Amino acid sequence: MFKINENYQKLPGSYLFSTIAKKVSAFTQANPDKDIIRLGIGDVTQPLAPAVIEAMHKAVDEMGNAETFHGYAPDLGYEFLRNAIAENDYKSRGCEIAPDEIFVSDGAKSDSANIQEIFSQDNRIAVCDPVYPVYVDSNVMSGRTGVYDAKTETWSDVIYMPCTMENGFVPEFPKETPDMIYLCLPNNPTGTTITKAQLQEWVDYANRSGAVIIYDGAYEAYISEKDVAHSIYECEGARTCAIELKSFSKNAGFTGVRLGYTVVPKELKCGDVSLHGMWARRHGTKFNGAPYIVQRAGEAVYSPEGKAQLKEQVAYYMKNASVIKAGLKDAGYTAFGGVNAPYIWLKTPDKMTSWEFFDYLLEKANVVGTPGSGFGPSGEGYFRLTAFGSYENTLAAIERVKKL
Ligand SMILES: Cc1ncc(COP(=O)(O)O)c(C=O)c1O
Repeated sequence: MFKINENYQKLPGSYLFSTIAKKVSAFTQANPDKDIIRLGIGDVTQPLAPAVIEAMHKAVDEMGNAETFHGYAPDLGYEFLRNAIAENDYKSRGCEIAPDEIFVSDGAKSDSANIQEIFSQDNRIAVCDPVYPVYVDSNVMSGRTGVYDAKTETWSDVIYMPCTMENGFVPEFPKETPDMIYLCLPNNPTGTTITKAQLQEWVDYANRSGAVIIYDGAYEAYISEKDVAHSIYECEGARTCAIELKSFSKNAGFTGVRLGYTVVPKELKCGDVSLHGMWARRHGTKFNGAPYIVQRAGEAVYSPEGKAQLKEQVAYYMKNASVIKAGLKDAGYTAFGGVNAPYIWLKTPDKMTSWEFFDYLLEKANVVGTPGSGFGPSGEGYFRLTAFGSYENTLAAIERVKKL
């Protein structure tokens, strides 16, 4: 008789966004006349940039011709894309990352969930609280998180680093020393981030304590403040302690196209063992490459036209962020984020729980957001709104909130 991976049985409840979808679906069935505005899931709404579409059309044509057809992609990704990434995301920022330290993938969700595989089972992980749920859940699935306490909604073997309004959403060094530190900056869901000087302190801490930082920079394109690093490799010493994950989903609207990459510097070692070699082995065995058409689309993100068009797209979403933040302020809410990220993180009024506020907003304003508690225990009493909707819907949603 086969046995299952019992760790999956330990996962509490269903995935946050399925619970939200079920609640919204029940509400729509009961109220078919209501016009719902969704500012919940962090999915983009603007179409792909013309430069990206053009590159994809060209690549599709190449695939229809025997001379220019492409089969399996190289393990690490096509050189044209890795060179563009190394040049634009690293060299231009003074970071020393070689194209062969970049592993092209189908997105940051898979990479952030899979990266834990190359680490020992008994490593202690530390996560910001609240944070993107994939880091903890993927470690639960692999049996690294201990026992779940339903009351506190925490795992016995996970080190939580609360990020709340009290500490300005800046994670503090934990009392116990972690082995793997997940940092998502700018942060999903709080929309806040830390300065380059503060990030340098984390890099120094990791190098001092022998920990590895898994740095998720999915929202890097939204950084507007000068003293915030666009890559962890802007910090001195990061090459010996940090892995960086990036996505094309939020900067270029690739949520439905699928493209991302992971950087593993060659100096990152455990004793004599290079993590770069391990990830290359893992990637080669378990991943067969992002599609050629998609990698050409990714290359176009770095073309002069692509850059200009995507700058506009990011500005469009950030205008929404300003509308949401200003509107919430006018309505008397305390709100954070929205400056270096497309998320607004608000404190729920009248001591409502996150889910109470979700129901209240859905029923009274027909606006869907995301309960903060879904991202970790310290998210309780907070609520996330995204700036990824259309400008018109964002304005309409905020007008409704103001009238409550
Ligand atoms: C912090 C963070 N990392 C990764 C992802 C997923 O990115 P991708 O679409 O590249 O899988 C998301 C998506 O919302 C995210 O918020």
